[in-house]
Amino acid sequence: MADTITIIDDRTGKKVTVPITDGVFSSSALRDLDPNLFMYDPAYLSTASCASSITYLDGDAGILRYRGYPIEQLAEKSTFLEVAYLLINGQLPTATELSTWQLNVTHHTMIHENMRKRFVDGFHYDAHPMGMFISAIAALGTFYDDAKDIFEKESFDKQILRLVAKVPTIAAMCYRFSQGLPFVSPNNALSYGENFLNMMFRIGDDYKVDPVLARAMDVLFILHADHEQNCGTTAMRVVSSANSDPYTATAAAAAALYGPLHGGANEAVVRMLTEIGDVSRVPAFIESVKDGHGRLMGFGHRVYKNFDPRATIIKKTAYEVFEVTGMNPLLEVAVALEKAALSDDYFVSRKLYPNVDFYSGLIYQALGFPVDMFTVLFAIPRTVGWLTHMQELLADKEQKISRPRQWYTGVDERAYTPIAKR
Ligand code: ACO
Repeated sequence: MADTITIIDDRTGKKVTVPITDGVFSSSALRDLDPNLFMYDPAYLSTASCASSITYLDGDAGILRYRGYPIEQLAEKSTFLEVAYLLINGQLPTATELSTWQLNVTHHTMIHENMRKRFVDGFHYDAHPMGMFISAIAALGTFYDDAKDIFEKESFDKQILRLVAKVPTIAAMCYRFSQGLPFVSPNNALSYGENFLNMMFRIGDDYKVDPVLARAMDVLFILHADHEQNCGTTAMRVVSSANSDPYTATAAAAAALYGPLHGGANEAVVRMLTEIGDVSRVPAFIESVKDGHGRLMGFGHRVYKNFDPRATIIKKTAYEVFEVTGMNPLLEVAVALEKAALSDDYFVSRKLYPNVDFYSGLIYQALGFPVDMFTVLFAIPRTVGWLTHMQELLADKEQKISRPRQWYTGVDERAYTPIAKR
């Protein structure tokens, strides 16, 4: 059987045949038929907007790989900074490359004093940390006059390094501000995850990061580092396609992530579990979702229709964390909810399974993060994925400024009516 597709325009009888490669055919076929013919594809359900060699995802088989490496192996054997190197450079680092990369990241964690004193201090005392984070990332670019030199490799690599190194510092700063706590400077002797936890929670001199919790933080960062063309990454690519600087583009991607259907879901999960409050109320909650009163947050995924491999790893990490922190009482509700949903035809027939957010919120809560910080915790590692996609887009000769077409459904031409006659 030929790997081609033939499209016939029944209005004219004209037809084109184009090759199918890896299940994809080029939309140039439509342009060949009629340059004014467009596909109506809201939310890009059937549209590949780019070719990418970063992350492979098979939703039906529950497969997720970064640069070919299965997520399960990376979560078990690697560290977040090694995975960041892998994503950005396409290969695992040698020992020397890794230590140079770690050293460079560690030495770019500081941020300009004015960011804190003049910028962050200007927020209202109860500002949402994610709103602060998004604004602070955009503002960070104004501190570097080479931020816009995106086509000079040395400069662009420097911005990647700065952003990867500084996002935990900014995140912790936003949190400390919202708590009215003094800012803790980055500590170069600590690992990426340890340093972040230290900047977040250090009060006094005797704070020591538990290695199990630091490792859990690292695993969560690995799992969230990239997930191909989701809403935030698409925002990153669209903004980058206008050749904006990486700080502005990252802020735009983070803005998309802020939405409750995307990165805000784990915050919504904990709120939902808190509202349910007790295992005895799980059946009534399930019924209310089935009756159309809200969604079961942390369930369902646009791509994973069987299981989300990240959810499996996270569930295991949750139990490791609870060994140290003590059991999160909401876990019992979560487990009962998962069990009830997975044995209910409403969820099974719609292929709704727990996604990465179903358990991550419980871990974050056990680690001591307030729910408002959850999306920020997602944005820290995802910054690596976003920047990797920007890098790929800028090197892709087939990419142009993003500019989809629309299907106009408004009124036809009409004459302006003076206000007195309306
Ligand atoms: N609870 C109840 N019903 C659901 C849920 C849910 N969580 N998710 C989907 N459905 C139902 C829909 O109502 C719809 O039912 P219908 O066919 O009777 O109308 C059907 O399942 C298909 O749903 P869609 O909205 O078309 O699925 P889509 O792929 O567009 O949505 C999404 C994916 C946004 C993730 C959705 O499943 C959802 O809202 N989940 C809850 C929020 C969440 O957990 N988001 C995190 C995603 S992971 C991430 O971003 C990191």
